Amino acid sequence: MAAAVKIVPRHIAIIMDGNGRWARQRGLPRIRGHEQGAEAVRECVEGCGELKIEYLTLYAFSAENWQRPKSEVFALMRLLEKFLKDKTPELIEKNVRLQAIGRLTDLPDRCQKRLHESIKRTADNTGLTLILALSYGGRDEIIDGIRSLLREIEAGHIDKAMINAEMFSKHLYTRYYPDPDLLIRTSGEMRISNFLLWQLSYTEMYVTAKLWPDFTRKDLFAAVEDFSKRQRRYGGVDVL
Ligand code: FPP
Repeated sequence: MAAAVKIVPRHIAIIMDGNGRWARQRGLPRIRGHEQGAEAVRECVEGCGELKIEYLTLYAFSAENWQRPKSEVFALMRLLEKFLKDKTPELIEKNVRLQAIGRLTDLPDRCQKRLHESIKRTADNTGLTLILALSYGGRDEIIDGIRSLLREIEAGHIDKAMINAEMFSKHLYTRYYPDPDLLIRTSGEMRISNFLLWQLSYTEMYVTAKLWPDFTRKDLFAAVEDFSKRQRRYGGVDVL
């Protein structure tokens, strides 16, 4: 199946939604949905490797997710810590480079430590770059970008007249990565939910009714195949 896909996106971003509903449908606690969601992450990373995708950004914990019940936030942080501890050897074996975006200093110290350890241990890998969006908010990112730009102006490193979209992109968390080509959202919701607001300007969207814990590499291949048939015009017109 993977071999049939001709044009693959360089960068896929995913809003992994529906863990809670998956658990509710089975009469299980919400955290079981998140645990199963972590397994779907593994499957998706493998699928991206097969397709030779360069970048995969996963919305793993939003700035708004801190408002969830304390017990769920705690369980999600524990799960992240466990994921980093258990899966880092697998990431190394699969040549995956781990990165993270967001207000990472909001995370519990133990998570930050594990995260930076995993980032360091996978830094020389040359395959897929897996970017976890953690305590991430698109509006926060833009505000942090403006603050960073103002610091540069105040320090006299740049002139206000030099500001343009390309320069501003260099002040975002994502400055090292290309913009996503394809955004996948699971569970049928048609929202951006404060994810990569700047970077998704020309990204192709794919929404599937599948709940994230049920998302398999076959679903990933279907999304990429759909993407390969799209005509991207970036606001221009088709050239005949
Ligand atoms: C949305 O489902 C999902 C999240 C808020 C967390 C995403 C986390 C994972 C997929 C597991 C952990 C990932 C890693 C990388 C360790 P929801 O809870 O909003 O679902 P609902 O809308 O059905 O309630």
